[in-house]
Amino acid sequence: MVIMDQPQGSLAGAAKAEMRPSPVSAPEPAGETIVRIENLTIRYGDFSAVKNVSLDVYRNQATALIGPSGCGKSTLLRAINRMNDFVPNCQVDGRIVVRGRSIYDPGCDPVDLRRHIGMVFQKPNPFPKSIYRNVSWGAKINGYRGDMDALVEQCLRRAGLWEEVKDKLKQVALNLSGGQQQRLCIARALALQPDVLLMDEPCSALDPIATARIEDLIDQLKTDYTVVLVTHNMQQAARVSDRTAFLYMGELIEVEDTHVLFTHPRHPRTQAYITGRFG
Ligand SMILES: Nc1ncnc2c1ncn2[C@@H]1O[C@H](COP(=O)(O)OP(=O)(O)OP(=O)(O)O)[C@@H](O)[C@H]1O
Ligand SMILES: [Mg+2]
Repeated sequence: MVIMDQPQGSLAGAAKAEMRPSPVSAPEPAGETIVRIENLTIRYGDFSAVKNVSLDVYRNQATALIGPSGCGKSTLLRAINRMNDFVPNCQVDGRIVVRGRSIYDPGCDPVDLRRHIGMVFQKPNPFPKSIYRNVSWGAKINGYRGDMDALVEQCLRRAGLWEEVKDKLKQVALNLSGGQQQRLCIARALALQPDVLLMDEPCSALDPIATARIEDLIDQLKTDYTVVLVTHNMQQAARVSDRTAFLYMGELIEVEDTHVLFTHPRHPRTQAYITGRFG
């Protein structure tokens, strides 16, 4: 995986620099494509859940995937870090190129890929370990040799959870509330120092306050990361994303700057969906 330089002075950037001392490529300008999806078709057996989708994801932006239930959003998202490898009968055709490397090529190690492309699921899935160890795990598997306490604090602060857990870091994470567990999973993903963070409906089980916190967080994360977010919440897509892709029955109907898609959709199906006439 090619290494990305980070903005000077950023905490995440500093931690990344410590973990990956020898960058092999020059920094890219913002707006550069970091993930290129080319003619991607994903089948479960004979059923095509994603049909010939091509989509560019730009660095340091949040890209939202929207569309009715069953249209292939999660399937497409999971393809970006090869989580579909775990699904029996799932076949992927086409290409996904991440920072210049085709991730389905035989030479690409999916474990290494997932160290650079983190994922947060709809249902929080903390490990049955302490809050501290949930966060330090990601850093450890990435060979982090810096100050672990400082990194754990930094990730928990970024996820907006530090103040609530700083006095009980050794307690088991499963005792946290659902919203706290989701923010912990985000902190755990951040500790991996990913280039890209995939989020599949991260707020669907959260109350409006926890949701607002995570939306604020996504906005801040764009300084250091690239986010791809699945959401059913139109307001959320409009609030947090720079670009929005509308999927319908496995096809990408249109992708546009978010404000354009929500104000001047080109396709009647997009118009119908965003105005709540189907889906
Ligand atoms: N493991 C699987 N085996 C077979 N079919 C599957 C599998 N996972 C998903 N599908 C099918 O693929 C299609 C796309 O599913 P996917 O979960 O990607 O949709 P989605 O857009 O994320 O929906 P939702 O908004 O409800 O989460 C659906 O028809 C679903 O039934
Ligand atoms: Mg889904």
